[in-house]
Amino acid sequence: MKISRYPDGFKLPNSPNMAEDLIIDKQLDRESAYQQLLPQIKALLDGETDLIANCANAVAALKETFDFFWVGVYFLKENQLVLGPFQGPIACTRIDFGKGVCGKVWEQNRTLIVEDVEQFPGHIACSALSKSEIVLPGRNKSGDVAFVLDIDSDRLADFNETDEQYLSQIVALLEKSL
Ligand code: SME
Repeated sequence: MKISRYPDGFKLPNSPNMAEDLIIDKQLDRESAYQQLLPQIKALLDGETDLIANCANAVAALKETFDFFWVGVYFLKENQLVLGPFQGPIACTRIDFGKGVCGKVWEQNRTLIVEDVEQFPGHIACSALSKSEIVLPGRNKSGDVAFVLDIDSDRLADFNETDEQYLSQIVALLEKSL
């Protein structure tokens, strides 16, 4: 089923090269949905070099496709992670090195999957409804963390290696804008 809020043939203003809407099949299992989404995100980001614009669209596409509770990025700025484009409830704006899941991902420079956030020591609860979380590092050309992609679910153990595999490809697309 194609979900479109625009009439057939409608083109968004100022975006002549962009698909006018995402194709999202809500019947697909998650892996197939990633496979459908990935080339669309690639096309969406193609030709645009602005990191914030690309993060904003990638985050919106993920939120719209999977209806995750919260999807967003934090950028490494002045030795803190600072809130960037996101979709979902309001969130904490700054995270220190080693603090919460995001700060640990920055510290350890690797993806963390948290099945139950209440069991994660130091987890930063932006919302009591968040139950599980995946956070991936985005790295600059030297391999240092430059941003993190954070996704929260209101279901326990909602993320696994399949999410990591596809989300890391989306992160790799975003890294090109660094
Ligand atoms: N839970 C994150 C903080 C960011 S919010 O989930 C949006 C953490 O522990 O780092």
